[in-house]
Amino acid sequence: MKIDDIACSVLKKIKPTDNEKRKLNILVNRALDITNKISKLFKGNAIIVGSFSRDTWLRNKKEFDLFIMFSDEIEKDRLEEYGLHIGKSVIKKLGGKAEISYAEHPYVRGIIGEFLVDIVPCYDMTSSGKIRSSVDRSPLHVKYLKKCLNKELSEQVLLLKQFCNAQNIYGANFPVQGFSGYLCELLIVKYMSFEEVLKDSINWKSGKIIDIENLYEDRNIIKKKFKNEILRVIDPIDSNRNVSAAISSENFFLFKKKSADFLKNPSESFFYRKKIKELNVKEFKRKIDKRKMEIIIIKFKKPNVVDEIFYSQFKKFCKRLDNILMEYEFKVFKNDYIIDENICYALFEMEISELPEIEKRIGPNVFSIHSCEDFFRRYENEENVINGPIIENNNLVFEINRTWKSARKKLNDTLKQEYNILIEKGIPSHIATEISNKFSILSTNQIYTLIEKNKHFAKFLRAFFEPEKLR
Ligand code: UTP
Ligand code: MN
Ligand code: MN
Repeated sequence: MKIDDIACSVLKKIKPTDNEKRKLNILVNRALDITNKISKLFKGNAIIVGSFSRDTWLRNKKEFDLFIMFSDEIEKDRLEEYGLHIGKSVIKKLGGKAEISYAEHPYVRGIIGEFLVDIVPCYDMTSSGKIRSSVDRSPLHVKYLKKCLNKELSEQVLLLKQFCNAQNIYGANFPVQGFSGYLCELLIVKYMSFEEVLKDSINWKSGKIIDIENLYEDRNIIKKKFKNEILRVIDPIDSNRNVSAAISSENFFLFKKKSADFLKNPSESFFYRKKIKELNVKEFKRKIDKRKMEIIIIKFKKPNVVDEIFYSQFKKFCKRLDNILMEYEFKVFKNDYIIDENICYALFEMEISELPEIEKRIGPNVFSIHSCEDFFRRYENEENVINGPIIENNNLVFEINRTWKSARKKLNDTLKQEYNILIEKGIPSHIATEISNKFSILSTNQIYTLIEKNKHFAKFLRAFFEPEKLR
């Protein structure tokens, strides 16, 4: 099939229906009206930002973004206070349900029937341009994209968004770490079509720079400023911002791979999520049999904090356990995690999870007389000592009984401590709170049950054992 035909067919399925457009239009205008009336009392101005403002929203998205701009003379605390107050009143007037969400600042998220709205206070930077918080950029994005996008290009944006969506890499939020809507829009501004974005992406190297408005004369400055960021797309309205900062390197290469696959063999299937088959217990047993590595799974409740904080703590947690295991001569082969229905599962596939009874303590070189004395004194009365002191290759050596022979037991010992000790051991705070309350390390039978009962987990395991080839 030709790419144009595919695009045409896909667009028919992803463009909002007239009915959907009409409904959302009515709601947005009412919301805008009400917000402006209430905001006037606080000298605020309502504006629609995001995909609705430029016709780049996908069918069934049912979300819009309503920002309230304030003069930069008012303080941050007031801005937050007004924002929450206005947001809650607006949602109430619209007969919806409001809740407070947290990003860089708290804002109101409302559910009105089938639609979701983010009501966010920000500073009006549309004239001055000095950004105080990341949300201040959104109205400037509206202005910029109004200038650069038209109806045809907006359709190209939809295709790119849907393509990313189908690969599970649409959105800059955790845990996706993919391409934000705004990034998709900018890529279309740069390359003018979905197909051209894909074509060019095949040649992207890690650290690829895209500076649409040529805000930098010297690319070396970009390299220094956004060091170690896999893709650098300079925000046309703010040279200090890399729009693609959230993309993980895994997702960068996945995008390139999928682009190459699509261009080699174009098909509509690239626009729809591939169904991942669950791994069943029999297959799991076979994997273990073949790989001969123990699987350790730690389970605990997800702490109730902002995703950004949670995911960064969860990663640190896994890294820390890896280090602790290493200190005791165990070795992690591969680690991954899944959060399902507010339960966290951290999975460790162990290259070394069982160790022998005896371990060797290698001391200093015999010519370091003082150090040898210290080393000798440390072990001479230890009841753990089996042999020693002996000399091996000019070093003083003791053979002792090993305390931790099983990685599973070591982990259990580390994690069963109370909060303060967990913190001392470097377990991140919110996770330490949950773990000190309750955690478990799954037994083999519990893992089988989990695979049988939890489809998400079974799919996660399939992806763990059969990861996508990235080249
Ligand atoms: P949204 O997350 O609602 O995205 O952010 P969107 O562009 O409207 O796309 P969809 O249709 O909801 O998926 C609203 C605005 O916030 C800014 C952009 O200006 C965006 O249009 N934003 C959001 C960013 O600049 N970067 C981000 O990572 C997220
Ligand atoms: Mn949006
Ligand atoms: Mn939003």
